[in-house]
Amino acid sequence: MATGPKVANTREDLLRVEGLTKIYDGAVKAVDNVSLTVATGEIFALLGGSGCGKSTLLRMLAGFETPTKGKIFLADEDITNLPPYKRPINMMFQSYALFPHLSVWENIAFGLRRDHVPNDQIKERVESMLSLVQLGKYAQRKPHQLSGGQQQRVALARSLAKRPKLLLLDEPLGALDKKLRETTQLELVNIIEEVGVTCVLVTHDQEEAMTMASRIAVMSEGYFLQVGAPDEVYEMPNSRQVADFIGNVNMFDGVVEVDEPDHVTVRCDECVHYVGHGISGNKGMSVGVALRPEKILLSKERPQGEFNWCEGEVVEIVYFGDHTTYHLKLPNGKVIKAQEINNTRDLSCGLTWGDRAYARWNDLAMVVVTQ
Ligand SMILES: Nc1ncnc2c1ncn2[C@@H]1O[C@H](COP(=O)(O)OP(=O)(O)O)[C@@H](O)[C@H]1O
Ligand SMILES: [Mg+2]
Repeated sequence: MATGPKVANTREDLLRVEGLTKIYDGAVKAVDNVSLTVATGEIFALLGGSGCGKSTLLRMLAGFETPTKGKIFLADEDITNLPPYKRPINMMFQSYALFPHLSVWENIAFGLRRDHVPNDQIKERVESMLSLVQLGKYAQRKPHQLSGGQQQRVALARSLAKRPKLLLLDEPLGALDKKLRETTQLELVNIIEEVGVTCVLVTHDQEEAMTMASRIAVMSEGYFLQVGAPDEVYEMPNSRQVADFIGNVNMFDGVVEVDEPDHVTVRCDECVHYVGHGISGNKGMSVGVALRPEKILLSKERPQGEFNWCEGEVVEIVYFGDHTTYHLKLPNGKVIKAQEINNTRDLSCGLTWGDRAYARWNDLAMVVVTQ
């Protein structure tokens, strides 16, 4: 047997899913041949629109749904046919309803009591959970005497009290308003990382997935379009669908004119893109060019050269406080969006409705997609 160099053991895979499929009533293919691995301690997000199969996949992991096909392994043990209560997994539901008549303390203790954990151990675990989620002072309160964010933390403490190996979160912050969501997202990540529990998170909110997860699977119609780190799926989407789903994007259709190892050009109706790297395509191929609004610079002066700019009319200005989005109508009627940071208090590029303006971008700003 060959012995390679001793490499420091990086994180092991805790969860492995192979070819998981769920067909409801012999007709609805809710999850379609999904495979994935999640490393110990990782926060992995399933991201996709409503009805794409996120909850079904999560429920199969928890054991509440029987797969039509495929296998689930946890630390190399095949758990596909284990009932939910025998899996070292805990799931926090979309509506994380706490028991209203029980105190915070008793809510957290609930699952442990049900499992007949000895009293002294219950006490120890509840107290450590309370300090973890920083709610020690609130132990005797009832859920309705807490804010939404605090209730959320109690629910998380309850899920973690049984020390699951895998924590499943289904739209955990759905009930919170935007501002509270943002702070709670970071709180949850800190707590999850402190405990070191591995986590699969379901969300339809791309910002939430980006903020919380180390990797994201973008789902559509039951399958994975792309799996990658947040910046990978944002900066290097592998298809129009992913580019479109994650963030805002301007999409151009064109044909590859020059195809060199270190650059390509793509002729579109609106402009010619000069892309500063090679692509896995070839000359004459029809492709899409994805360009994010924040990568476009607007000006009143005509840019030099023949590549990477177009001219249009400002038809809409949407002010967001920290940035402004300009809608530019091009000669062929297409409207593109350009996002300018408001780094001075007067609108920095000085454009107003009806102005002629030039949009320009650099040769590494765009992504060429072939599907
Ligand atoms: N118990 C069920 N019986 C039949 N169809 C279901 C059931 N649960 C979900 N579905 C269908 O499966 C698809 C995926 O649903 P779901 O996993 O809940 O999506 P998501 O969580 O991404 O919104 C949908 O078309 C939904 O209508
Ligand atoms: Mg769902």
